[in-house]
Amino acid sequence: MNNILLLLFIVYFSVFFYDASALISDGVILLSLLKHWTFVPLIINSTWNASDSIPCSWVGVKCDHAHNVVSVDLNDHGIFGQLGPQIGQLHHLHTLVLSSNSFSGEIPSELSNCSLLQYLDLSYNSFSGQIPGSLKKLQTLWYISLASNLMSGEIPDSLFEIPHLKEVSLHSNQLNGSIPSNISNMTELLKLSLYGNQFSGNIPSSIGNCSKLEALFFSDNRLNGNLPESLQNLENLVYLMVRNNSLGGTIPLGSGSCKRLFILDLSLNAFSGAIPSGLGNCSALAEFAAENNNLVGSIPSSLGLLRKLLILRLSENHLSGKISPEIGNCRSLKKLHLYSNQLEGEIPDKLGMLSELEDLQLSFNRLTGEIPVSIWRIESLRNILVHNNSLFGELPLEMTKLKHLKNISLFDNRFSGVIPQGLGINSSLVKLDFTNNKFSGIIPSELGKLVKLVSLDLSHNKLEGSVPPQLSNCTKMDYFDVGFNFLNGTFPSSLRTWTRISTIILRENHFTGGIPGVLSEFSTLRELQLGGNLFGGEIPLSMGTLQKLFYGLNLSANGLTAEIPLEIRKLQELQSLDLSLNNLTGSIDVLGDLVSLIEVNISYNFFNGLELH
Ligand SMILES: *[C@@H]1O[C@H](CO)[C@@H](O)[C@H](O)[C@H]1NC(C)=O
Ligand SMILES: *[C@@H]1O[C@H](CO)[C@@H](O)[C@H](O)[C@H]1NC(C)=O
Ligand SMILES: *[C@@H]1O[C@H](CO)[C@@H](O)[C@H](O)[C@H]1NC(C)=O
Ligand SMILES: *[C@@H]1O[C@H](CO)[C@@H](O)[C@H](O)[C@H]1NC(C)=O
Ligand SMILES: *[C@@H]1O[C@H](CO)[C@@H](O)[C@H](O)[C@H]1NC(C)=O
Ligand SMILES: *[C@@H]1O[C@H](CO)[C@@H](O)[C@H](O)[C@H]1NC(C)=O
Ligand SMILES: *[C@@H]1O[C@H](CO)[C@@H](O)[C@H](O)[C@H]1NC(C)=O
Ligand SMILES: *[C@@H]1O[C@H](CO)[C@@H](O)[C@H](O)[C@H]1NC(C)=O
Repeated sequence: MNNILLLLFIVYFSVFFYDASALISDGVILLSLLKHWTFVPLIINSTWNASDSIPCSWVGVKCDHAHNVVSVDLNDHGIFGQLGPQIGQLHHLHTLVLSSNSFSGEIPSELSNCSLLQYLDLSYNSFSGQIPGSLKKLQTLWYISLASNLMSGEIPDSLFEIPHLKEVSLHSNQLNGSIPSNISNMTELLKLSLYGNQFSGNIPSSIGNCSKLEALFFSDNRLNGNLPESLQNLENLVYLMVRNNSLGGTIPLGSGSCKRLFILDLSLNAFSGAIPSGLGNCSALAEFAAENNNLVGSIPSSLGLLRKLLILRLSENHLSGKISPEIGNCRSLKKLHLYSNQLEGEIPDKLGMLSELEDLQLSFNRLTGEIPVSIWRIESLRNILVHNNSLFGELPLEMTKLKHLKNISLFDNRFSGVIPQGLGINSSLVKLDFTNNKFSGIIPSELGKLVKLVSLDLSHNKLEGSVPPQLSNCTKMDYFDVGFNFLNGTFPSSLRTWTRISTIILRENHFTGGIPGVLSEFSTLRELQLGGNLFGGEIPLSMGTLQKLFYGLNLSANGLTAEIPLEIRKLQELQSLDLSLNNLTGSIDVLGDLVSLIEVNISYNFFNGLELH
């Protein structure tokens, strides 16, 4: 009997002892979450150990003094799987971070049982389904991010009833419906990020009651209607980004306080009316972008008050009048894009005061006069694109000192004079397009110093002399067009260094001699245009090696003689062939083998039999 009692006592004691060393329930709950994961990284497998009595030293886990799990942070651990409903049993949890893993499936509604949760980050996963309406129960939540998942459906109104939310990040999902108008409940809201969804409808004017708001990221949705006037109440607003929606009406900003506004992006909408001059009072603005809208009127001179402005992009509107010289006061400006408007008059000399300017794009306007020399003195310039205007005058020597210049586009203007000799010295030019102007004189041999040059277009000018052999140093050349000038001589064989060339256009010049043999070495050529010159002799057999020719081979209007070489049949990708206006003879049967040809012109030659037809 005593023995039995003793035995019972031992059994009882060992059960008690076992209980005391067993994993506490929060640990058991965590292990039950693992069962929903199809890939668990080693660092978790090796520390989440069922033999431990408490889970408080497990990777990603934090406890309070009573060994309750209060934080699970497994950001970027490579986990695959689902979030099990057991998460709702971690009643002391205040932080849950599972961002940047590969979680999929729905967000369990049981999550709302973690009633002490303050910080929830499930971003950058593949969670799908709807946002659970039950999240409303998380009354102490101040941060929620479900960004960059596959969430769909609408934002439940109840989400915006969580009173202390400071940051709501739902961007880059497939959410739709409208922005709930009870947004004004969130009086603590600082940041609302909804970009990259399919939200539609109006931006609720009650948003003006979220008086602490600092950031609204609404770009890349389908929002329509006007921007609410109440946005002017948001004195703390730093970012207002509504790019790429269907918003319209006038821009209701600038008459309230906007002292903290840092980035304002209204681009790619249907805003109309004038740019409010009050924006000049938003003195912290670093970027103002409103390109691709229906804005009219002139660029307000008050924008010149924006001394911190780095980027001004107003392209693709209907802005008219002159470019305000006051823009020259925006001394920090790096990027000025005003292309595709109806701006007229001269480019103000004062823009030359923009000593930090890197990117000047004024193309497709009605600008006239000369480019002020002060602009050519801005050392920081990288891009200067002023094509499609009515600009004229000669290029000053100053432009040759622009060491950082990469991209210069002057085409479709009336520039004249010579191409400055020193242009190639100390320069990093990648693309130079002077087509359709009135440049005269020679192509300076110094251009051969532009070792980074990829594209050179000097066509439709009045250039004479020959193609300088020094261009052989431009070994990255891809596009070379000197068509429609008065150039003579031959094509220098030194240019065989152009191993990446895809386009050579020599059309309508006075080039002489035979078709240069070096051309046959350009096995990367997609287009070769030699028409309208004085090339004589036979078509070289070696042309058959240009097997990448695709867009066209034009040898028309030269003095070519003899038969079409059979090797031409190797040009199996060629779509367009022009041999017209030469003295070619023999048979044209070989052309039948050019299976890709769409366009062919062989007229005005002496081919066999053709004159009979
Ligand atoms: C878990 O802990 C026990 C006891 O400390 C140890 O023997 C075992 O190897 C651990 N398991 C893993 C997977 O590390
Ligand atoms: C947990 O959540 C579910 C679903 O939201 C609910 O039915 C259940 O009553 C909750 N359990 C507790 C203990 O709160
Ligand atoms: C939102 O998308 C769901 C499909 O995910 C669709 O059934 C619903 O009609 C859409 N709602 C709106 C307002 O577009
Ligand atoms: C917003 O605030 C205004 C004035 O403070 C108040 O009259 C209005 O009722 C509020 N609107 C909402 C939707 O809370
Ligand atoms: C505009 O946003 C849509 C998504 O709503 C996106 O698919 C599209 O690429 C965006 N367009 C531009 C030009 O950014
Ligand atoms: C800037 O603000 C001042 C004071 O609020 C105001 O008088 C002025 O008209 C504003 N400027 C512009 C260009 O709206
Ligand atoms: C090119 O740069 C060198 C060294 O920076 C300088 O001495 C020279 O004057 C420059 N040449 C031109 C034409 O700017
Ligand atoms: C030159 O400008 C064009 C037009 O904006 C742009 O597409 C291209 O990327 C620019 N190239 C360089 C080298 O900046």
